[in-house]
Amino acid sequence: MANRALYRKYRPRTFAEVIGQEHVTAPLIQALKNGKLNHAYLFSGPRGCGKTSSARILARSLNCVNGPTPDPCGVCGSCVALAPDGPGSLDVVEIDAASHGGVDDARDLRERAFFAPVNSRFKVYVIDEAHMVSSQGFNALLKLVEEPPDFVKFVFATTEPDKVLQTIRSRTHHYPFRLIPPSTMVGLLDRICTDEDVTIEKSVLPLVVRAGGGSARDSLSILDQLLAGAGEGGVTYQHAVALLGVTDAGLLDEACSALAADDGAALYGVVDRVVDAGHDPRRFASDLLERLRDLVILATVPDAAGKGLVDAPADQLERMTLVANQLGVATASRMADVVHNGLVEMRGTTSPRLLLELVCARMLLPAADDSQAALLQRLERLERRLAIAGEGGMPAPVPTPVPPQGRTSGESAPQARAPEQAAPVAEPP
Ligand SMILES: Nc1ncnc2c1ncn2[C@@H]1O[C@H](COP(=O)(O)OP(=O)(O)O)[C@@H](O)[C@H]1O
Ligand SMILES: [Mg+2]
Ligand SMILES: [Zn+2]
Repeated sequence: MANRALYRKYRPRTFAEVIGQEHVTAPLIQALKNGKLNHAYLFSGPRGCGKTSSARILARSLNCVNGPTPDPCGVCGSCVALAPDGPGSLDVVEIDAASHGGVDDARDLRERAFFAPVNSRFKVYVIDEAHMVSSQGFNALLKLVEEPPDFVKFVFATTEPDKVLQTIRSRTHHYPFRLIPPSTMVGLLDRICTDEDVTIEKSVLPLVVRAGGGSARDSLSILDQLLAGAGEGGVTYQHAVALLGVTDAGLLDEACSALAADDGAALYGVVDRVVDAGHDPRRFASDLLERLRDLVILATVPDAAGKGLVDAPADQLERMTLVANQLGVATASRMADVVHNGLVEMRGTTSPRLLLELVCARMLLPAADDSQAALLQRLERLERRLAIAGEGGMPAPVPTPVPPQGRTSGESAPQARAPEQAAPVAEPP
């Protein structure tokens, strides 16, 4: 048998299996329990987050012999027919409005809707991509959606609820689906990897989740591709980094440690390696921005990892927390601003590497910048150094011990001056 795509193989069968959409599934489950059913539903939200799956689950829940029930039995004729890998039922009609959204299709549907279901309780019309129904089509459906026969239910699914005719929308119960949070998605991928019995390095999953952008379908496709290309040892971090074109977390670690240590030589060394490895400096900058975001949060929120605000493997979190504390909130957030602005400038530039280096200079040199954020960074630095001096001989969080007089000490390492020399180019006075 040909391999089925993961996102088809792992289509949820019950509302309990639809992850990250509890705000939608909980009230639906309750409504099914209470028998408080509406005749039309609107499922909206980004692609790949469970709308079509939930529409099918709703149809299955409505038509189970024990139904309407939030826990379809899974063994009755209707449940078997409407299972994700089942043959389907005559009474549950899925219409793809992208290809069948015209007025003729709508009239056709309107006529058929009045025939009683063949062998189920309800006739369920799932109208997918509902925003593609033409306005004439919607008008032809209006009366039916307003007052359908008792045995007819509608589920409209769409990424663009605003394009669904207001008069139709107002006759539906609207359930907005959302992007799936990263920690929830990691859980799903992890379960699927276990089910599939594949070896995959734990650090790969956050990469997949990030590349999937909150869509379960996209995340599963990416995972599929990684699994397809995996060798004997399973999916390794290196393999995933190469395939997804993301920056190796090791390089980001180094860049951030260099920033925290005010070590220009190390920072420019990282840039060098990024470019040598053939990576796009823009990609590096946007990955660095994301990392700085994590650092800001780690420095601001105690137990950010436990609260699910920052998602990374334990050893990496440890390194990041250390760096976050070395940097401090003001510094990390000013650096994030600098990178963010740099990214805007990088758009369309012919020499992204040069810009990346200038961005590095600006991050290292709050003195070259008279903004309030830069002043805060300098203040934070001073306070930190005073505190260190006050602790009398405690090891400083920077590699070179720093005397209380301040920042000139870095100059003992000659390379560390590089960013300072670059500074006037970056920010002409
Ligand atoms: N909330 C979710 N929980 C679990 N899997 C999901 C979820 N959303 C999407 N998927 C996965 O993605 C596939 C496509 O989902 P689908 O319901 O068709 O998305 P949509 O209709 O919102 O574009 C499903 O078969 C399933 O594998
Ligand atoms: Mg869909
Ligand atoms: Zn059943």
